[in-house]
Amino acid sequence: MEYATSPKDKSLESPPLQEPPTKIYALSEIAQHNRLDDIWVIIDGNVYDLTNFVSEHPGGGKILQGVAGKDATKKFNKYHRPALISRYEARLKIGQVQLEQSVEKKSKFRIRLNFASHGGR
Ligand code: HEM
Repeated sequence: MEYATSPKDKSLESPPLQEPPTKIYALSEIAQHNRLDDIWVIIDGNVYDLTNFVSEHPGGGKILQGVAGKDATKKFNKYHRPALISRYEARLKIGQVQLEQSVEKKSKFRIRLNFASHGGR
């Protein structure tokens, strides 16, 4: 006789999670996707795979080449309403940037900015 707790009883296995866990990508990995036929960008710490979107981007593909594999947040906000991104998240978002790396990048940038603003005196 088989008990309900038997490993063979598939009905007792956990149901699949509704949302898969967020994938975390290192900057070095994102940077490799830097061509229009394989393009990832970072917007607000999230990673987007635009490979299948380039040809239908209303702003064209050429402008995306400049941010391929990089942080495109500034440029994205320059040309679109920031809220626009939420309409594309389900389709294009593949994960997030590894946190320490993005924080480290920001703080380095801030130090350089401070340095620059005090330079030349
Ligand atoms: C997830 C990434 C992106 C999505 C989903 C997206 C989507 C769109 C959409 C829907 C439009 C039509 C206008 C609008 O509704 O605002 C547009 C226009 C445009 N986009 Fe993007 N875009 C993305 C990334 C970028 C990036 C990274 C750049 C620049 C480097 C860029 C540059 C432009 C430009 C120049 C236009 C034309 C604006 C105009 O005609 O006034 N886009 N984009």
